[in-house]
Amino acid sequence: MPTTLKVGVIGVGGIAKTHMPGWAASDIAEVVAGSDVFEPALAAWGATHSVAKLSTDAAEIINDPDIDIIDICTPNMYHAPLAIAALEAGKHVICEKPLAPKPADIRKMIAARDASGKTLMTAQHFRFKGSSKALKAEIDSGSLGDIYHARSLMLRRGWIPARPGFIYKKNSGGGPTIDIGVHILDLTLWLMGNPKPISVSGVAKAPLAHHAGAFSQWGLVDVPTDTDVEDFAAAFVRFENGATLILEVSWLLHHDTPGEDMQMWLYGTEGGSHWPECKIMSTNYATKQFYNKTLQLTADTMEPHALECVEFAKAVAAGAPSPVPAEQSMQVMAILDGIYRSQERGGEVALDL
Ligand SMILES: NC(=O)c1ccc[n+]([C@@H]2O[C@H](COP(=O)([O-])OP(=O)(O)OC[C@H]3O[C@@H](n4cnc5c(N)ncnc54)[C@H](O)[C@@H]3O)[C@@H](O)[C@H]2O)c1
Repeated sequence: MPTTLKVGVIGVGGIAKTHMPGWAASDIAEVVAGSDVFEPALAAWGATHSVAKLSTDAAEIINDPDIDIIDICTPNMYHAPLAIAALEAGKHVICEKPLAPKPADIRKMIAARDASGKTLMTAQHFRFKGSSKALKAEIDSGSLGDIYHARSLMLRRGWIPARPGFIYKKNSGGGPTIDIGVHILDLTLWLMGNPKPISVSGVAKAPLAHHAGAFSQWGLVDVPTDTDVEDFAAAFVRFENGATLILEVSWLLHHDTPGEDMQMWLYGTEGGSHWPECKIMSTNYATKQFYNKTLQLTADTMEPHALECVEFAKAVAAGAPSPVPAEQSMQVMAILDGIYRSQERGGEVALDL
């Protein structure tokens, strides 16, 4: 194992910028190369971060023998082919969410990981927030008992990423279901202990994206009329252990918060919880009283997008398990893909995991 892990970043747009402080903060990893199909952006990124090895051909970075880690930050539909090529070239891979929009592609990524013996991690940064880690520790200590229901939402009011990487299925694979649903669902399943999902009934549709004058407050731009993904989805999920989950996501909802409303409630036999407030609700049946407590949090010292890179490098160096295993992303994508299948079918669909 080299003393410093050499990192190549593929796709140097918005999210790659949030990874760079993490690679800079890591004392065991450094970014030495970058690739992007858009040469001017690549050149500007290379100059900003003093990275000299630049190529518009990702294969050059992937096959560079000096590189240990590939950090994939391209639009969703390119994740699987790039990750599989990188794993086959013997690299460790950290890949932006969703790991891939199609469960079948995640299966291939897992197979490539297993054949290579390298580490594959999905960049689910919300797991690295202090509030998430504190609630996970509290839940793992047993304070909710058996979790039998979850309610999760990620709702935005007029906040659609009106960029080609997100609004055209050929690049993204879908709309808010897999763009932001993947965040709140990954976090929820992780806090629940990743029970196996078995079926989903859902809707995914675009009631607002094609409204005359539809706009995004993100850059104050009109929503392109040829947007071909949904803007709203809702689902009911059943798990093998009997637990259930309700999920709601939207980019454009007439909701009562101006930006983003991201919340989750978990309900168990011994208590309930709310994230991100980290409230625990319980009952003393002897005195017939309700109790609420709020977990004490220490302030995050690093942005979670950066911390996930630091933690990935540590896991690779230590030969430790992936901080966000692909098998857990497989559960998430099976549910999200199930929502689209359920919309088409008009009823509940079974999940094949
Ligand atoms: N974790 C988060 O909070 C979060 C937030 C935003 C985006 N993302 C994810 O990050 C990924 C990228 O999103 P973004 O907001 O950075 O998009 P972006 O459009 O800002 O950047 C994507 C970059 O990838 C480049 N690119 C496109 N196809 C490529 C290819 N085949 N090879 C190399 N480069 C290619 C583009 O030229 C662009 O520079 C998506 O998967 C998205 O879901 C995650």
